Amino acid sequence: MIKIAVLGYGVVGSGVVEVIERNNAEISRKAGDEVAVKYILDLRDFPGDPHEDKIVHDFDMILKDPEVSVLCEVMGGVGPAYQYTKRALEAGKSVCTSNKELVALHGAELLELAVANRCNYMFEASVGGGIPIIRAVNSALTAERIQAVTGILNGTTNYILTKMAKEGMDYSQALKQAQELGYAERNPEADVEGWDACRKLAILSSLMTGKNVSAGKIRMEGITKISKADLEYARVAKMVVKPLVLGKMLEDGSVVAMVAPFMVPEGHPLARVDDVFNGVLVTGNMLGDAMFYGRGAGKLPTASAVVADVVDCAKHPGKTVWCFWNQEEASVADSSQTRRAFFVRAAAGSQDVLEKAFPEGRALLRSGGEDMGFITPVMKEGEFDAKCAELGDAVLGCLRIL
Ligand code: HSE
Repeated sequence: MIKIAVLGYGVVGSGVVEVIERNNAEISRKAGDEVAVKYILDLRDFPGDPHEDKIVHDFDMILKDPEVSVLCEVMGGVGPAYQYTKRALEAGKSVCTSNKELVALHGAELLELAVANRCNYMFEASVGGGIPIIRAVNSALTAERIQAVTGILNGTTNYILTKMAKEGMDYSQALKQAQELGYAERNPEADVEGWDACRKLAILSSLMTGKNVSAGKIRMEGITKISKADLEYARVAKMVVKPLVLGKMLEDGSVVAMVAPFMVPEGHPLARVDDVFNGVLVTGNMLGDAMFYGRGAGKLPTASAVVADVVDCAKHPGKTVWCFWNQEEASVADSSQTRRAFFVRAAAGSQDVLEKAFPEGRALLRSGGEDMGFITPVMKEGEFDAKCAELGDAVLGCLRIL
């Protein structure tokens, strides 16, 4: 029997227990042995819970139990999760996690620790919820030189922008719904300011480069400044606003990485990724684009990815499944040389100054007319920033265009 411990009995932790229970025959058949939850570690008690007898408060009990071979760390945060993961790996117990914050910060180090102790640190659920993107990059696409990843990796912000655009919902109402559905982080600022997507992009970019891409080096903008007017202008321009992540390899081996809301042309595959769904386009030098799509957040999809990692660990006892990510820091390039078109929302009557600043741009009109929209020609991001600084208060908002 493969006995596991679940660290954290929150949304994902209770999902892991449920997935193992409901799909037990399937999971055990694929793991080659019966999979069972022996312990659930949490600070709280859960009187009346059907798994009340498995709740423990002392991590050492799990660590010292030779029957437990795999831990699911679904506590979130860095604090105790980091210490528990290190101690488990040092004891030769594999760890499967959904904790993107910890993976982004210490992934490379924890992977090395797993190799040294002939066990595994697996983190499929940390990026894209239920979408098997990590396994795809680590195994199915190993013949590729991955050149870029472009995607929607935060379900909460995609949900908010979809509800605002399609149902006319207010930002705060849509955020509240995302929280009620269990999509949002404990502190939703991590979603709406871009931290969550940034951590996921750091993980994917690290796998793309094989080196460590720190989340702190990624240019990040959240969705809090997006107004209903921006969404309306996007509609007029036959585009949609999406919370994107972009990671791109440059010729010199450095990477450009960015998290920001973009206007995306309606015909682009990412434009159709709505609600809580995530989508990632991986561009390989032989394959071209491959798109991965699925539920990016939520209890059962995320838990399913954690349990798939448990099955992988069970299939490789005493062996580490290779993951290409070492501790050397990757060179992260400044995005100012990147070329693209931009959308500008400006004060009504600014057409002349905009046309002067951005010759060959085009104006966008919407009913109401309190402001105006403008699409610039393709230009360097650094030049665009400089022009906007010159335009000062006339600029009410801007968005990159994919
Ligand atoms: N808050 C995250 C999201 C959860 O909305 O995508 C999944 O990582």
